Amino acid sequence: MTIALEMRNITKEFPGVKALNNVTIQVKQGEVHALCGENGAGKSTLMKVLSGLYPSGTYEGQILINGVERHFHKIKEAEEAGIAIIYQELALAKDLSIGENLFLGKEPAKFGIINWEQVYKESEKWLHEVGLNASPELPTGSLGIGKQQQVEIAKALSKNANILILDEPTAALTEQEVEILLGILQEFKKRGVTCIYISHKLNEVFAIADSITVLRDGMTVGTFATPDITEDQVISLMVGRELKERFPRVESNPGEVVLKVTNYTVMNPDIPGKKVVDDISFEVRKGEIFGIAGLMGAGRTELVMSLFGSYSGARTGSVEIEGKPVKINNTRQAIREGLALVSEDRKKYGLVLGMDIKSNVTMASLKSISAGGVINHNQEIASGNEYIQSLKIKANSVETITGTLSGGNQQKVVLGKWLMTAPKILILDEPTRGIDVGAKFEIYGIMNELIRQGVSIIMVSSELPELLGMSHRIMVIAEGKRMAEFKAEEATQELIMTAATGGSDK
Ligand SMILES: Nc1ncnc2c1ncn2[C@@H]1O[C@H](COP(=O)(O)OP(=O)(O)OP(=O)(O)O)[C@@H](O)[C@H]1O
Ligand SMILES: [Mg+2]
Repeated sequence: MTIALEMRNITKEFPGVKALNNVTIQVKQGEVHALCGENGAGKSTLMKVLSGLYPSGTYEGQILINGVERHFHKIKEAEEAGIAIIYQELALAKDLSIGENLFLGKEPAKFGIINWEQVYKESEKWLHEVGLNASPELPTGSLGIGKQQQVEIAKALSKNANILILDEPTAALTEQEVEILLGILQEFKKRGVTCIYISHKLNEVFAIADSITVLRDGMTVGTFATPDITEDQVISLMVGRELKERFPRVESNPGEVVLKVTNYTVMNPDIPGKKVVDDISFEVRKGEIFGIAGLMGAGRTELVMSLFGSYSGARTGSVEIEGKPVKINNTRQAIREGLALVSEDRKKYGLVLGMDIKSNVTMASLKSISAGGVINHNQEIASGNEYIQSLKIKANSVETITGTLSGGNQQKVVLGKWLMTAPKILILDEPTRGIDVGAKFEIYGIMNELIRQGVSIIMVSSELPELLGMSHRIMVIAEGKRMAEFKAEEATQELIMTAATGGSDK
């Protein structure tokens, strides 16, 4: 057994943060090696050190590839050593064609003229490798996220990667796309490609990884052969304590109807005549968690965004809040009516990454911390601190720039921002995507506290265990239509999946 990669005593500091503290990891040739750890544990940072994004000299410790110490001063040098990384946030240029993305920076050229024919021919070969049937001339942005992910992998391969790093590759993928991705990785493994796999989804980790390294607070906890360890053990190593129950659902005593949606239909703004939400009716009561299940593309996000006034498609039907008909046309009105939406896409709708934590947290509640139009800065800081504590956001201070937080901690800032608006109805769209198990548990605890206070929660989630574990009622939609509704006690994964794939008329 050869060691393809060894990172020895890696220490990496940012101003005020020791992101990595003496981390050591050994990865065997041809294995899939998973990296697990809570949000902010240092997983992405370790991989950025390896990929040359953080150049040699900006960290301490050694990197050995096939036993030889290497110093990468830039990404290109790591690539030449066979290391390719697919970052947590996809980095493709959406306006460029697939082929252009694949060959960005290394287009085959003669006398400075790019040979496009060759670019596209070569691209086809790589797309075929990853099982993607798409013309390389298509704009990359026209592909769904799962396919963009495949383009990323094709791109990594076209650089002749021996070590392929995937940082949270499946956070935004459908079940089916995840299957395809795992299949591709199995295929690479057969060919001897070494893979480092970062994911918060432990079922995937256990399905694909040969060994698992756990990081906690920037330190290595240990490396284990997958057959020698259980999911529960990995969880307790990650969070540093036993986590007995994954979903702390509490009984609810639902009160009066807070939200009543009747015959709600939403049109696709781009395709005339196409409905994304089709004649949906439902009610949500005070103090309950109402789950919405469905496959990706079923119209769940469009439904909640439209209710929140942030979806441009025309709609018909009626919405009542506390018995009063409302017409919500924009986010400001939505907030005024007591709605809050924690969006699945934090970059697009939730956060200003260049601003600090306190500004992001207070952004939707400026009125409550201002007097005479002037923001009270002490109160802004106090509010920021309040959410750093209650949500356990891993950050130095309220002045930390949100973009420097780890992915999961950014998601907690979005949550803080909307909690601060003190909503009557809190809509959570994939609230725990990219969030570690410990933090998920904390978020569930917060949800329970909110319903105890009489808030109503609508939760859209693709993670069925979470939906089943936390909701009191679950509505299933498919192709924009309401397919079924289940009480918590009667719902099962099978019933929901059958309804979501159009198989039930309950
Ligand atoms: N550019 C940066 N500047 C300052 N601090 C940073 C920077 N990048 C990362 N950090 C900090 O280093 C720590 C480790 O972050 P990292 O992104 O590696 O975590 P992670 O394990 O990938 O978490 P997640 O699961 O949320 O993606 C965090 O405390 C983070 O805030
Ligand atoms: Mg990360």
